[in-house]
Amino acid sequence: HDAVDVIRAKRDGKPIPEDALRWLVDAYTRGYVMDAQMAAFAMAVLLNGMSRDEIRVMTEAMIASGERMSFADLGKPTVDKHSTGGVGDKITLPLAPLVAVFGVAVPQLSGRGLGHTGGTLDKLESIPGWRAALSNDELFAQLRDVGAVICAAGSGLAPADKKLYALRDVTGTVEAIPLIASSIMSKKIAEGTDSLVLDVKFGSGAFMQDVDRARELARTMVALGTDSGVATTALLTDMNTPLGLAIGNANEVRESVEVLAGGGPADVVELTVALAREMLALAGRPDADVEAALRDGRAMDVWRAMISAQDGDPDAALPTPRETHTVTAPTSGVITRMDALPFGIAAWRLGAGRARAEDAVIHAAGVDLHVKPGDEVAAGQPVFTLLGDDASRFERALAALEGAWEVGVEAPAHTPLVLERIT
Ligand code: URA
Repeated sequence: HDAVDVIRAKRDGKPIPEDALRWLVDAYTRGYVMDAQMAAFAMAVLLNGMSRDEIRVMTEAMIASGERMSFADLGKPTVDKHSTGGVGDKITLPLAPLVAVFGVAVPQLSGRGLGHTGGTLDKLESIPGWRAALSNDELFAQLRDVGAVICAAGSGLAPADKKLYALRDVTGTVEAIPLIASSIMSKKIAEGTDSLVLDVKFGSGAFMQDVDRARELARTMVALGTDSGVATTALLTDMNTPLGLAIGNANEVRESVEVLAGGGPADVVELTVALAREMLALAGRPDADVEAALRDGRAMDVWRAMISAQDGDPDAALPTPRETHTVTAPTSGVITRMDALPFGIAAWRLGAGRARAEDAVIHAAGVDLHVKPGDEVAAGQPVFTLLGDDASRFERALAALEGAWEVGVEAPAHTPLVLERIT
């Protein structure tokens, strides 16, 4: 095979033979195909797309570049959830223990945040002692004994994707739907889950802001999962407004614990319950009463066991910020808008996120909202509080929030949090 032939075929809109595509991914991973060639190929895919078969073969080739895990010996069904990322999206934290209540194993292999969207592992690392890295044996034992695991995805899963994603990041080719779909799904299929629910977000705080493109991504990933033998469904969910009242790390853990205690913000509860129902339906438990498991403490029991199993102390105090700054309503009225992207950027600038992969996050940093769109406020009432260790960061966070929220006279029209279910 010759990389130039494959690039030319995609450039000219011709189908790529299956063996040539498998060869390309393998040779790139081993270093026989140059970055320049793979970048040209990625750009040709961005411009000309890929057929459903090509996307499947691309994904299979990325899976074949690394290890493939199996939970077949576990003796219970496995189901995972993947979110394309958002602002205040802590849903994995209450969701994994909630689903595990019903005897289903949840291997939630997660990542860290980069840019304005937070990472699940960063949030959990605000719990004193908690450990993200588990060996495969530890992962397996915890799935058997506790039922839920949230841990770091090992570097052995889809190494081709790791290399290709870094290349796409610097060549303007991240946005190609076939490449996003094969990137996400190669990791999930290699992980070995029986079934998968995707939370594909649209709106200002989402990776895929446009709803039609988010829908296309969701359909592509559902088809890919199905073609690969992983039962997959997707929910298309609104990310124009931050989820819940907490944006950051420690404050998001606190909010998740409120949900596990039967309380918490309505939107976080709604999405947690909707995703839990989808996951349990795929795992053969469509009648599971998930709301009861939040009310009666069973989900909290699994959470505590899950945190303890990874050396975390579920009763330890979470880090609190050294400095805070509260912004109040200039006039009385109703909150008409809180735009997810600027709130995510503000939390990021306060230190809740990182600019480079090797940076550390500040676990106590972030933004606490006191009200949400639709809530009435009186002049002088707190709207949100910036949290940080360093007051000098507040100015840049406030600059990001300029024009990001509004007090008006008329309540905003209701928009559904879950827009569509894609199967
Ligand atoms: N997340 C991934 O894992 N891969 C992509 O290509 C985009 C988002």
